[in-house]
Amino acid sequence: MVKIGTDINEAKSLLERNELVAIPTETVYGLAANGLRSEAVAKIFEAKNRPSFNPLILHVAYPGMIKELVKFVPEKARQLAEIFWPGPMTLILPKKAIVPDIVTAGLDSVGVRVPDHPLTLHLLRQLNFPLAAPSANPFGYVSPTTPEHVAKQLGDKVSYILDGGQCRVGIESTIIKVTDDAVKVLRLGGIALEEIEEITGKVEVDAKPTENPEAPGMLSSHYAPGKKIILGNIKENLAKYQGKKTGVLSFTQKPEGADEENLFILSASGDLMEAASHLFDFLRRLDQSDVEIILAELLPEEGLGRAINDRLRRAAH
Ligand code: TXA
Ligand code: MG
Repeated sequence: MVKIGTDINEAKSLLERNELVAIPTETVYGLAANGLRSEAVAKIFEAKNRPSFNPLILHVAYPGMIKELVKFVPEKARQLAEIFWPGPMTLILPKKAIVPDIVTAGLDSVGVRVPDHPLTLHLLRQLNFPLAAPSANPFGYVSPTTPEHVAKQLGDKVSYILDGGQCRVGIESTIIKVTDDAVKVLRLGGIALEEIEEITGKVEVDAKPTENPEAPGMLSSHYAPGKKIILGNIKENLAKYQGKKTGVLSFTQKPEGADEENLFILSASGDLMEAASHLFDFLRRLDQSDVEIILAELLPEEGLGRAINDRLRRAAH
């Protein structure tokens, strides 16, 4: 069994020896390694079974530390960092040569972020290198939001899981590519589009599920659990799939005719933040239950609802 605990020194010493450690963040758990050592980063790709064309995010302790990793920080990126870091936002900026090509999959840009989790911030402050960390799930599966999720899927591939409890945000960071002339959202996530646009003005969103994206990891089949997910009006779909054993993922209420045992309500009060924090855990539980199909519905296209709907669409692909 993999060791799970809160021993920062143990995590530090493993990382210094180029081993993998799962780390908590406010968004999802990450599978971390020394981001400046190719041989350590290579282990991440192997453990996740992740294609090497899919670049990783570098996590640092303080916003000022990105200067070591990126060539320049456009004014709008500086403003975003000041407001949202530590927090669920990743900035894509032109990389310096010190960042190994394996981290960026050969791109000339790198993703950087200051995560907002006390344990991981504590760890990062004690390291003299950034942590490369994708979500700690096998490639293509739902991201983990508890140490148990990580242990179950990658337990034999990681040396230690730093236990930071359940992730507060529950959905991955918003990825923003900033150049001198443009701000582009490449992945909807834990910071709502509205909040970003308050700082930057109107931004372009290029985060559609697609097979040929600018963010190479944004495949439409991402986040897919093993079970078939059907999106739409749950009540109508319950009638349509009457003969099947169905599970239900609903936003606020129990749809008429749904089986209590396999019913998950994202937020009874309609709170989008609460819904985001439950999304991946509920998808996993439904996926692991004995239902044949999962019926789910889209949330309002506003705030975190956009990011949740993005994940639901990919899961249903
Ligand atoms: O919340 C998060 O961002 C979590 C936690 C652990 O920090 N990490 C995460 O990493 O979701 P990952 O690897 O599962 O997703 C990162 C995404 C991928 O889709 C990747 O293609 C994109 O970021 N990405 C990374 N570097 C990029 C770059 N230079 N240009 C465009 N996209 C990039
Ligand atoms: Mg991921």
